[in-house]
Amino acid sequence: MQSPNDSGFTFVLFGATGDLSMRKILPALFEAHRSGMLAASGKIVGVARHEDTRDQYLQWVNEHVKPHVSKNGLDEVAWASFLERIVYVKLDLSRAEDFTTLRDGIAELPGIRVFYLATGPSLFVPICHALASVGLNQNARIVLEKPLGYDLKSSNAINDAVGEIFAEEQIYRIDHYLGKEPVQNLLALRFGNALFEPLWRREWVESIQITIAEELGVEARGDFYDNTGALRDMVQNHLLQLLSIVAMEPPHSMDSDSVRDEKLRVLRALKPINPADISKVAVRGQYHAGVIRGQQVPGYATEHGVKPDSRTETFVALKVEIENWRWAGVPFFLRTGKRLADRVAEIVVNFRPVPHSALGPTALRAGSNRLVIRLQPNETIRLYCLAKQPGEGMNLSSVHLDLAFDQFFREGQMEAYQRLLLDVINGRLALFVRRDEQEAAWKWVEPILNEWAATPRPPKPYASGTWGPAASSAMLAQHGTCWLEEEN
Ligand code: BG6
Repeated sequence: MQSPNDSGFTFVLFGATGDLSMRKILPALFEAHRSGMLAASGKIVGVARHEDTRDQYLQWVNEHVKPHVSKNGLDEVAWASFLERIVYVKLDLSRAEDFTTLRDGIAELPGIRVFYLATGPSLFVPICHALASVGLNQNARIVLEKPLGYDLKSSNAINDAVGEIFAEEQIYRIDHYLGKEPVQNLLALRFGNALFEPLWRREWVESIQITIAEELGVEARGDFYDNTGALRDMVQNHLLQLLSIVAMEPPHSMDSDSVRDEKLRVLRALKPINPADISKVAVRGQYHAGVIRGQQVPGYATEHGVKPDSRTETFVALKVEIENWRWAGVPFFLRTGKRLADRVAEIVVNFRPVPHSALGPTALRAGSNRLVIRLQPNETIRLYCLAKQPGEGMNLSSVHLDLAFDQFFREGQMEAYQRLLLDVINGRLALFVRRDEQEAAWKWVEPILNEWAATPRPPKPYASGTWGPAASSAMLAQHGTCWLEEEN
């Protein structure tokens, strides 16, 4: 099938034989191709130094990418036509003349050029310079993967250098959480329904929890992770982005800057963390050995690539406040961790109880007046209310109204990367992080990073397969609340 708007594109993938290309980018491009969403004349240019020829690269794609696209049965005809889109350029980053070869190799290819840097961040600036040296920064978009820097200073250094070569509207900074269908739905829920908006404020909301919990450990990324930690890996980006979408004011339209301006306002309104208070509002933990789904798993310090005396956090829980009229005084509890009891990402909005209960004390109890937005797995929106139990008397119990998206919309779910890549190709910036958002997020996390780097106290241990250190629950208890799974 041909896209209705076939203006073509040339998608140049640096790091074309890397893990991200293999697992995410090429499978997402294939899926977009298979479902007819890519312009027929669009080309994908694999750039790497490992393979010598296009045939060898196609062989690599067949061996390594195909297994990641065939989960629901591979459409062989679509796969064959997908391979026809692929061009290959062998390139060694240290050889300036290879960029001339790249320029000449793609000179006749159609449409807008997208340069996707699926490489380590240390290569972002050299690649941008090399592209500019052969004039390839014109009529082009550049996609940068996280992590973009290690702290505010290093992220600014990359952004400054890239910004000298590409204008901000040419730069697409990926946070793959923004491409997830449920995150899009959060915008739809908030700004498509009049029902929630009047309640979405301090007068009616008691507290909000945002959790991204993983069962997996650091897997093969011990080296990277040990120098990163959960605050940089998950909080600075994914969790703060989710928070900004939950808390933002209604944008005047869905155009990219209207949405990003509102998110930025939230990030700038985050109450700065006073270093002296960090132990009251931030908990960091590190997983030890334990059991997950019946399987014994090792502790973090014995994972491959991790220093045995590592003090890197694999768990973070935070209490965050937003200093504006809508949210003043409402605690937002954020939490993420590896090797936790379940894989789940969800947002819990706890509304205040009724101000006076004519129906007795059960009408004031926790567990009702709550909206749970489950982002993954099994995207669901669940509204908890109180209802009368059948029979004599006025006994109330907590019931819920559910919207399970996969039952309502049986098809059409799109993977985050597919959506984001289509957005890059089509020039839609709304789901990409603007530089000022990134800066505001780094500024806010930096006092915590600094304090944790300076303190002699190690992260608190937690057994794999649990919900993190006890201090995380204690932090909520101080505010008279608890994490969702701790109720009852
Ligand atoms: C990545 C982190 O950005 O997000 C990983 O680097 C993490 O450590 C992953 O596992 C989680 O993403 P998802 O989509 O599986 O929830």
